[in-house]
Amino acid sequence: ITNEKDYRNRRALLRAGILAGTAAATTWLYRRLASPAGSGKEAAGPQTGGYVTPEGEPATDLYDITHYNNFYEFSTSKEGVAPRAERFPTRPWTVEVGGLVHRPRTFDLEEVIRLGVEERVYRFRCVEAWSMVIPWLGVPLGRLLSQVEPMGSARFVAFETLFDPTRMPNQRTQVLPWPYVEGLRLDEALHPLTLLSTGLYGKALLPQNGAPIRLVVPWKYGFKSIKSVVRIRLVAEQPPTTWSMVASDEYGFYSNVHPGVSHPRWSQARERRIGSWGMRDTQLFNGYAEEVASLYTGMDLRQNY
Ligand code: MTE
Repeated sequence: ITNEKDYRNRRALLRAGILAGTAAATTWLYRRLASPAGSGKEAAGPQTGGYVTPEGEPATDLYDITHYNNFYEFSTSKEGVAPRAERFPTRPWTVEVGGLVHRPRTFDLEEVIRLGVEERVYRFRCVEAWSMVIPWLGVPLGRLLSQVEPMGSARFVAFETLFDPTRMPNQRTQVLPWPYVEGLRLDEALHPLTLLSTGLYGKALLPQNGAPIRLVVPWKYGFKSIKSVVRIRLVAEQPPTTWSMVASDEYGFYSNVHPGVSHPRWSQARERRIGSWGMRDTQLFNGYAEEVASLYTGMDLRQNY
């Protein structure tokens, strides 16, 4: 974990505005953090906290995970999210779970946590062709859903972020339709890899990462992992999702990571691992094909992107 001195130095640079704001500056910052040359603590490279994926990939630096964010409710600039979300109040917090279920119920955060939090080190692949490795804490979503007893007619799960412009300032703007909504097919939601995350790096989530509870679906592009969830509904029909409402030809419902299915404006064949040099090959289903490919047997993944 990043020591406090380095953390403060980087923050000071960012605050001074030397680095903030431009894509070129962001690239420079990440090159510098990944650079084996140079002086001081940063020469040692990213701080991984000792976390690795089962395949041996080290976790992304905690600073990068918590300062390079997409969370449009606070800012459309990746570096702008953390400072603007800093004082977002996340307690008390409840998640209402209803729709086509036999036992609808509102859980408070502590009740979700009591269902049993597990630690999982997953790759995280954004549709923008960058990736990270994140050590999540979370409850398998299936465990929560079994509590409410889905009806036989439930085929999809719809998720909703908090809508409160007094706490999420960009909800006063029209940059996206609010609240942010997402969805999964029920079998995807019940898959053991799917988590409702409550923390990372062994601690509770910070606001910028979707505190106090966010979805994590490691074989799908990052925008499926909806943050600051307040409502989950079991439904019969495929629910609307924010990014496919905004641009349906660019962002589909399934959004499975696939090196052979390009975004209309860029290739998905390769990706940049934040904190490392160069590009690496994108893996089918983000490397989780063995676990999840059977969910899509007989489905054309180009049509159902
Ligand atoms: N959830 C909400 N409510 N609002 C958002 O803007 N951005 C998504 C997703 N969940 C987003 C969201 C996108 S595009 C990505 S890549 C991930 O959150 C980023 O998660 P991270 O900042 O924790 O890496």
